Amino acid sequence: MNETTARTELVRLSRSLYERGYSVGSAGNISVAIADGLLITPTNSCLGFLDPARIAKLDRQGRHISGDVPSKEIFLHQAFYETRPQTGAVVHLHSTYATALSCLPETDPQDCIPPLTPYVVMRVGKVPLLPYVRPGDPAMGAMIRELGGARAAVLLANHGPVVTAADLSSAVYAAEELEETAKLLVLLHARQPRLLTTAQVDELHAVFGKS
Ligand code: 13P
Repeated sequence: MNETTARTELVRLSRSLYERGYSVGSAGNISVAIADGLLITPTNSCLGFLDPARIAKLDRQGRHISGDVPSKEIFLHQAFYETRPQTGAVVHLHSTYATALSCLPETDPQDCIPPLTPYVVMRVGKVPLLPYVRPGDPAMGAMIRELGGARAAVLLANHGPVVTAADLSSAVYAAEELEETAKLLVLLHARQPRLLTTAQVDELHAVFGKS
């Protein structure tokens, strides 16, 4: 995707997330890889009202080249690009239900999102919970590097989800899928939903690949 298209798509998809309530206020940040670096939403910007010309641009060494001051969560974005070469975009939200799960002590830190439906298995994969650190703490980058590129998405404790994919629209769709599955899990909390079996999950990985 060339830089002009990447800017246009970043604005369009961010606005779409905002308009449908996946992000409120100035919460959340999104980045997309381009040929000579990456584009990322400016710090304190609202995903609903981005200006394509003011999106922050960083070069491949992480130096700020143009646009407004980049998101304070740049460390977590960079850690995903560095450890997962297949990453084309990173979406961080404070979406309600995924964030709710990130606050529950009973959430399994190795596997926050059990395989309830095929699409969360196909688009998101296994999601670990990373311990709480303050927004913008560089330690978040170190925690993501420790995963060694094995996970496409994480939940940040008491904070929210981070979802990656090979391109921007896939990362946005995966973030939506994660949020909707988290909503189902919260809705079904007092029940005991049937999960996909290991054989069913293996079949999804075999047919659609692993996130
Ligand atoms: P930024 O405004 O710096 O992108 O931070 C918002 C956010 O979501 C913090 O986690």
